[in-house]
Amino acid sequence: MYFVKVGDKMAVVVSGKTLASQIKGNLTIKIASLTKKYGRAPHLVVILIGDDPGSVSYVKGKEKACLEVGIKNTTIRKAPDISEAQLLQLITTLNEDTTVDGILVQLPLPKHIAADKVIAAIRIDKDVDGFHPHNVAALYLKQQGIISCTPKGIIALLDYMGCEIEGKNACVIGRSNIVGMPVAKLLLDRNATVTIAHSRTKNLAAITSQADILVAAVGKPRFVTADMVKEGAVVIDVGVNRDLNTGKLCGDVDFIEVEKKASYITKVPGGVGPMTICCLMENTLECYLKHMED
Ligand code: GUN
Repeated sequence: MYFVKVGDKMAVVVSGKTLASQIKGNLTIKIASLTKKYGRAPHLVVILIGDDPGSVSYVKGKEKACLEVGIKNTTIRKAPDISEAQLLQLITTLNEDTTVDGILVQLPLPKHIAADKVIAAIRIDKDVDGFHPHNVAALYLKQQGIISCTPKGIIALLDYMGCEIEGKNACVIGRSNIVGMPVAKLLLDRNATVTIAHSRTKNLAAITSQADILVAAVGKPRFVTADMVKEGAVVIDVGVNRDLNTGKLCGDVDFIEVEKKASYITKVPGGVGPMTICCLMENTLECYLKHMED
C-alpha cells in the first residue's frame, strides 16, 4: 500500500466493527465444533467491581460478544468496598476452577486495591487480558504468550486495511502498559521504525507529522489535530473519551479535520473498540484450547 493521497480525497474510514464481525463469524463456527468435541464451551469470567458507567458498558460489550460466539460468560459483580484480600481469594478460587478458561478483572480498580498485585495473581494461562508480568515479558522477549487485546486488534486492523508495516515510520502517542508500549513493540516486531511520544515529548507535531502510521492513545479528546498528521498517513484512534459539550463518545483524533489529510483512519466508536473485544474472544479461545489440549 502506498501512503500517497491523490488529490484531496477523504481518507478511507476503516471499520473495526465490520472486521470484528467477520472474525467473530469464524470464531462462532470454530467454537461450536470445539464445544462438541470437548463437551463444554470456553468459559470467561469477568470480575466487575463497583458501578463505574464506563466499566459497566465495557463489561456489557464483552457479555454480548461471548453470547454471539458461543463462549460461556460469567460476570461476578462486587461492591467497591471489597477488600484486596477478598478479591485475591476470589481469583485463587477461579484459578483452581478447571471449568474456567479466562479471568478478566475490569480496570480501573478502587484505589485501596493494588491492580498490579491482582493482575499478577491471575494464572498466566487464564490471563485473557495479557496483562500478567509473565505474558508482558513474553511479548518483549518474542516468546509464546497471550498478547493484550487492544494492541493485537490494532495490528489486525492494519493488516485488514492492507497497510504495509515493514520499513514505515510509526509513531505511537502514549506509553501505557495496556496500549502504547505493547503496540509499539508489535509494530517494531513487524519492522516498523517506531517512535513513542508522550506528555513530555518536545515538538510533538514535528515528530508525529513524520509518521506513516500514527497511533493515538493519549486519552485526550481530539488531541491529534490535522497539523500533526502527515499527508496520506494511516491514523489509528484508540481514544475513548467523553465530549464534555455533547456527552458523546469521541476519540483522541480530530476526526473531521484529520480525515481530510489521512489515507486511512479509524473512527470512535466503531474502530479499535470492537477489535479489542474480538481479540478478547480469541484470547479466551486460546486459553481454552491450551486447557483442553494439555
Ligand atoms: N479497562 C479498560 N480497558 C480494559 C481492558 O482491556 N481490560 C481490562 N481488564 N480492563 C480494562
